Amino acid sequence: MTAGQDWQATNRALWDERVGIHLGPGGYDLAPLRAGRGRLDAIVEAELGPVAGLRVLHLQCHFGADTLTLAQRGAQAVGLDFSRAAIAAARALAAELGLGDRARFVEADLTQAAAALAEPAGFDLVFVTWGALCWLPDLAGWARIVAGALRPGGRLYLAEGHPTAYVFDDQASSRMPGRPGWLVPYFQREAVIYEAAGDYADPGAAPAHRTETVWMHPLAEVVGALRGAGLALDWLHEHPRVTWRMFGSLVRDAEGLWAWPDRPWLPLAYSLGGGEAVTSELQRQICP
Ligand SMILES: C[S@@+](CC[C@H](N)C(=O)[O-])C[C@H]1O[C@@H](n2cnc3c(N)ncnc32)[C@H](O)[C@@H]1O
Repeated sequence: MTAGQDWQATNRALWDERVGIHLGPGGYDLAPLRAGRGRLDAIVEAELGPVAGLRVLHLQCHFGADTLTLAQRGAQAVGLDFSRAAIAAARALAAELGLGDRARFVEADLTQAAAALAEPAGFDLVFVTWGALCWLPDLAGWARIVAGALRPGGRLYLAEGHPTAYVFDDQASSRMPGRPGWLVPYFQREAVIYEAAGDYADPGAAPAHRTETVWMHPLAEVVGALRGAGLALDWLHEHPRVTWRMFGSLVRDAEGLWAWPDRPWLPLAYSLGGGEAVTSELQRQICP
């Protein structure tokens, strides 16, 4: 489907409203962060490594819970998001936690990141997690922004919902009782215009803004976009569990992630690390 003319404004309104929901009683659990020991999810905790002393750029940071967790661990963090409400909440939370000197928040559309950051590129780490890429139509452009923000030798950490799982949805009819049905083809190029049933963090919420304009990004497109921007993969993992209840049939595991109740039917998430590609002349000739 073709994205409507006002898709950016519609998506922004949705995210502005979600900030209030996520800061409310049914939203994110901020108690550990407020107690000075913020936690990332189990996948990121296992993969990210120490961040103390690193300059970190957190793209699409929402209201900054993870950005501030990284700052609590000694990173010098910059969070960027296009939601005015999210950035206002992130700044207030940083002030409340006494992290204003270690965390800065920038309100900007991702496509304007380079200009909005108003500081030389040179981040040690670009951090992007959970439900970020689907809002972006142009992954090649995203990858160029990531590459432009990294210092030589700097690294990208990305953790995302798996595009294979995005094919399926509880709102689509299924012949298998209790399982999600087929919603959108893996290789669909056009926008997916979707009416969210509720909120991923607070199942009891009834948001007024529910129309999402999102895009499928097959795994090869993500890797190709990074490669096109001069970045190479250090590693790539697929996971049979994810940080939110993507389908009603998932169950919470001992580490707080959502997993299949019986067998690992489909990957639910992937994560990757990468950075500047060092390409030899021979590699360039064989595999341009
Ligand atoms: C699912 S949230 C990401 C969750 C986040 N990683 C966290 O720590 O909670 C997606 C975020 O992307 C932001 N976003 C969506 N489209 C954007 C765009 N074009 N430019 C900047 N931010 C955008 C939304 O405002 C929202 O905060």
